[in-house]
Amino acid sequence: MNDEELRNMISRTLTCRIDKRENCEDKMAQFLKRCFYHSGQYNSEEHFLELDSKLKEKEGGRLSNRLFYLSIPPNIFVDVVRCASTKASSTSGWTRVIVEKPFGRDSESSNELTTSLKQYLTEDQIFRIDHYLGKELVENLSVLRFSNLVFEPLWSRNYIRNVQLIFSEDFGTEGRGGYFDNYGIIRDIMQNHLLQILALFAMETPVSLDAEDIRNEKVKVLRSMRLLQLEDVIVGQYKGHSKGGKSYPGYTDDPMVPKNSITPTFAAAALFINNARWDGVPFLMKAGKALHTRRAEIRVQFRHVPGNLYKRNFGTDLDKATNELVLRVQPDEAIYLKINNKVPGLGMRLDRSDLNLLYKARYPREIPDAYERLLLDAVEGERRLFIRSDELDAAWALFTPLLKELEEKKIAPELYPYGSRGPVGAHYLAAKHNVRWGDLAGDE
Ligand code: BG6
Repeated sequence: MNDEELRNMISRTLTCRIDKRENCEDKMAQFLKRCFYHSGQYNSEEHFLELDSKLKEKEGGRLSNRLFYLSIPPNIFVDVVRCASTKASSTSGWTRVIVEKPFGRDSESSNELTTSLKQYLTEDQIFRIDHYLGKELVENLSVLRFSNLVFEPLWSRNYIRNVQLIFSEDFGTEGRGGYFDNYGIIRDIMQNHLLQILALFAMETPVSLDAEDIRNEKVKVLRSMRLLQLEDVIVGQYKGHSKGGKSYPGYTDDPMVPKNSITPTFAAAALFINNARWDGVPFLMKAGKALHTRRAEIRVQFRHVPGNLYKRNFGTDLDKATNELVLRVQPDEAIYLKINNKVPGLGMRLDRSDLNLLYKARYPREIPDAYERLLLDAVEGERRLFIRSDELDAAWALFTPLLKELEEKKIAPELYPYGSRGPVGAHYLAAKHNVRWGDLAGDE
């Protein structure tokens, strides 16, 4: 690849979010002119020295900062960081490194990685990305809770019956089987994306919006969580399925995946936080590949109304009448609250309705991708949405014993057909905690 080819590639997806009155075309052209391609070996100090001199030439003696973004296989993280920090750090400004997960595959390997990175970088220079934290609705979670009087008083075991964090994709691991088989859905989605959302959801009010204050509160919640037990988890794996004349491959049909793999592509778990606010409230997580839909959402189911005057109208199934707050992270970002309402008319018929904030109706402008926000934050040194090392340790401490047990006992995943709603075990797990999955309630 050369500079021109790189610029062409970038321009295909480049968006301009500057003020419409300015000339986007010119700005984009100016930006592209400053993009260069330089190739080298990831572990060659000599090649990084060459990169350094090329950068110096472009910087022309101005104060310069350098941000390295490592979207590379984890086994070469440390080599690249060593070469970049020793041979290509900025001498006049800051040097930062963005690292993409996986940050290890358990507590030990994650510690090892952190120790190795810290030989060359300070914690302040490391930006660990969890791109779910950059999603608009996840960012909005704290705004919704802390800036609206109506929500914060409800945010505890007194009013909330359970919280559900749901991630589903309607495609399998095709093309990524090699990576995925070494990690599985619990490491790929739950230990990071869903757990980060949980921490933000459940944390106490931070002292301020500063990164350290927020991250202190998140660590506290993570450290208050009950260790996950095997009986709190169910795992599944998708199998091939034919529908409408089309056949969909099973997970182990992927040539990169061993035929006898028991790596989960689906998992559901019940987590608990042992603190005064959340004692006894199940936080249910569910994550799966090759399901019937692509969706990520946070569902908050409230308690039943005590002494419900309208029992007669709801029948015996009070669950059907509980309020539920849903934050749909994607697609079709929305926040809606399910309420009971009288159907207009002379009788007294009640109806389930939604107070609905559909983003595309309220905010017609395009929502920036999570990475746009996160890359900008890294440039600006805003660490709020990046994972601090003690957060990472706490997240691994929670999941590592479970992952080891699953692997040592070779727990076989429950098979589910590609494109289905996942294994039935997820329903039993929820039922054990007196919960019904909100996404399967049929009133979507
Ligand atoms: C990544 C996982 O972190 O997130 C993938 O490794 C997953 O397996 C992806 O597909 C989902 O991200 P998004 O933003 O498309 O929901």
